[in-house]
Amino acid sequence: MSTLTIFSSARTPEAAAPSATSRPIPAVLGADLEVPVKGGRLVGYANLDYAASAPCLEPVSAAVTAALPAYSSVHRGAGYASQLTTARYEQARHTVRAFVGARPDDSVIFTRNTTDATNLLAGCLPEGTTTVVFDTEHHASLLPWRHAVRLAPPAFPGEAVRAADEALAAIEGPKLLVVTAASNVTGELWPIAALAHIAHRHGARILVDAAQLVPHRRLNLTALDLDYVAFSGHKLYAPFGAGALVGRRDWLAEGEPYLKGGGAVRSVGERVEWHDDPEPRHEAGTPNVLGAIALAAACDALTATGWTALVREEERLIARLRSGLASIDGVRELSLWGDDHPRVGIVSFTVAGYSAREVAEALSGEYGIGVRDGKFCAHPFVRHLLGTSGGASDGDCADDTGSAVRASIGIGSTQEHVDRLIEAVRDLVSRR
Ligand SMILES: Cc1ncc(COP(=O)(O)O)c(C=O)c1O
Repeated sequence: MSTLTIFSSARTPEAAAPSATSRPIPAVLGADLEVPVKGGRLVGYANLDYAASAPCLEPVSAAVTAALPAYSSVHRGAGYASQLTTARYEQARHTVRAFVGARPDDSVIFTRNTTDATNLLAGCLPEGTTTVVFDTEHHASLLPWRHAVRLAPPAFPGEAVRAADEALAAIEGPKLLVVTAASNVTGELWPIAALAHIAHRHGARILVDAAQLVPHRRLNLTALDLDYVAFSGHKLYAPFGAGALVGRRDWLAEGEPYLKGGGAVRSVGERVEWHDDPEPRHEAGTPNVLGAIALAAACDALTATGWTALVREEERLIARLRSGLASIDGVRELSLWGDDHPRVGIVSFTVAGYSAREVAEALSGEYGIGVRDGKFCAHPFVRHLLGTSGGASDGDCADDTGSAVRASIGIGSTQEHVDRLIEAVRDLVSRR
């Protein structure tokens, strides 16, 4: 199957229908943040680190502020404030369900983040499940599986489909394919519709790590025929500690309760009777209601804005950033599938003569620019892209051995931020 076939499909995430009722792009908090740079001057902060955690959208902050006066217990009280807070929590579930285009009978479980969501699913896999996962994944999607087959980074999208096909064909028993929708290292979009198709042909299920997709593109789980998606609020302009796992109920209804305690049980006597509805079963204890309200408010705000406007602005800025960096001698952008492959607003690069940490520190200390440096919790993938080897010295996510710099954009990013980064890197290179 060619790259073109995979990405021209009407079922790819970028083939989103424009919203009929588009509103202006909302503002983010902290757009006027000033930070100190060398010499003691204050400059406007150029936040180019959205892929790590995005700033809070104003409508998200407003929704949380509005919910606070009636803040009370969830699922536990007869009082009016408890009922109201419970209703808001359950409404948030509906909003998240609609946001990812889930099927009516899918579960929506609030988690802490994507890592929490993938681990939750890992604990619910039927006995003997084999997981197939590419070495390009973030550790959140690479590591939680008990029996995993790891596939090498594919040379082109069709190769990803072919490799998954071959791996799944060789597995007996229950199987799960895990794949990211948009890489947190290169921003590149993966052929998730084609991979879902292949998974289902082999009787497997597919989990899509949508942490880096949902802030940038519309995702429709039903249209793409995905079984599960996981994502984080803090990357979706809702930094209040909630994420979600959305997908098919059966494995979740039978899996070991994620946390054992109040809320997850129907009754406790000699025997414990657990809920078999996945939501209460896996959400024991007092839930993060403000996180859920924030997440839902972000979903609402993005939907109301409409993806056409968001994608257009992001593509303009990312094209400018990439061509600016490409014009600088010694700067190399990391890419798995080449310059023309569709991607979200994430660019990782190296600068000859500097370590990634030196670049990131100079950008912050001298120019007021925030970027990420390291291996982005995707050690095997970054190693592959840089052609470095792993080993005992490989260190943690922020280790500087064989690392890169990552700039990422989203709502609130400006042309001035992008141009400042390009000129700062040019300046650094000229001083070498
Ligand atoms: C693609 C991807 N998956 C998973 C994660 C983990 O997200 P969290 O730290 O919110 O659990 C990240 C975070 O960077 C990511 O980029």
